[in-house]
Amino acid sequence: MRPLNIAVLGATGSIGRQTLDVIYRNPGRFKLFGLTEGVRSTNRKATYLVHGHAGEADFDARVEAMIADPRCDLVVVAIPGGRALMPTLAALHAGKEVALATKEVLVMAGALVMKAAGERGIRPIDSEHSAIWQCLWGEERANVRRLIITASGGPFWAHPDLDLDRVTVEQALNHPRWSMGPKVTIDSATLMNKGLELIEAHHLFGISLDAISVCIHPQSVVHSLVEFVDGSLKAQLGRPDMRLPIGVALAYPDRLPDAVPPTTLQDLSGLEFHELDESRFPSVRLAREAAGKGGGHPAVLNAANEEAVNAFVARDIPFSGIIRVVERALSAFPGCGGTLDEILEADRWARAYIKENSVV
Ligand SMILES: NC(=O)c1ccc[n+]([C@@H]2O[C@H](COP(=O)([O-])OP(=O)(O)OC[C@H]3O[C@@H](n4cnc5c(N)ncnc54)[C@H](OP(=O)(O)O)[C@@H]3O)[C@@H](O)[C@H]2O)c1
Repeated sequence: MRPLNIAVLGATGSIGRQTLDVIYRNPGRFKLFGLTEGVRSTNRKATYLVHGHAGEADFDARVEAMIADPRCDLVVVAIPGGRALMPTLAALHAGKEVALATKEVLVMAGALVMKAAGERGIRPIDSEHSAIWQCLWGEERANVRRLIITASGGPFWAHPDLDLDRVTVEQALNHPRWSMGPKVTIDSATLMNKGLELIEAHHLFGISLDAISVCIHPQSVVHSLVEFVDGSLKAQLGRPDMRLPIGVALAYPDRLPDAVPPTTLQDLSGLEFHELDESRFPSVRLAREAAGKGGGHPAVLNAANEEAVNAFVARDIPFSGIIRVVERALSAFPGCGGTLDEILEADRWARAYIKENSVV
């Protein structure tokens, strides 16, 4: 059998580079078919090399051509934010397998994306969703009672006395467990990452929002859990190394030998699980409410959060301002339906509202 031809969108990023690593370590199985790179370079060779960013020159058309090439088997989506939505839909409409790191895609338009994926589904790369996916293999969906998404808590959870109005960009970018791109690292510090992941899990696995909870697990060894109707819990455990869920997504339904060093029993000593304090970190509640309202609300949550994170990184607003911006945009949003045009319009509305009303 020939190797699987893989296109990597966002190949120079944290997920992108680790995906290239997994591909190059398994040459008989995977082949780098194409990639996109922005301001950085991977110095890799592939049939398609697309330079630039979404919306620039002929970037979007060249990405679509790469995806539509009949030789391309699987597309890894690792461009952060809502800009990854259209290439994801293009890959699904072209009948390609999609391994998705970009949770924002499912937050914005989960119902449309899952419909486009059909029976084939989406292969999740997010470690929590990979964990849940693996726990669900071979299980009847009717036997699932609850999903529990674990969160490291980010850099501030363990410091309840810290004034969140005064934390710096450098402190927020200093994640205790994972080395990731700036957007997802700031989202981890506000815990909006868990709000986005709750919506992502809801769409990926067809589980109601009320049956998904978040718990703080600072060691990041248990990547998430599934509770079944008989009272048993299944969890997936491993070191905090994204090459594991990336390998699971690329090799599905197989597993890659020695993808990462094994988890030892010593790694399991002293594991802690804590309840999330929603008064200090309201992002999960906000995300649950936005997803419950549906239509364009989750797209507004996502776009407002993206704009607010950019403003914080640019030092225009304090850390605690991120969630205030999201709250203000959500409460001002008049609402709309859930077609693709309406969702894209809701995304534009949120970004314009924030600019025009000096919300940041
Ligand atoms: N990193 C993790 O461990 C992790 C874990 C779970 C989920 N995720 C999710 O995976 C996604 C990617 O995260 P990451 O940490 O890998 O991000 P990252 O390190 O910031 O990398 C982003 C990649 O996307 C490219 N890019 C940025 N803006 C773009 C645009 N406008 N158009 C096209 N390409 C663009 C970047 O290119 P240049 O830098 O070359 O310009 C880079 O290749 C996010 O949605 C994140 O939530 C990440």
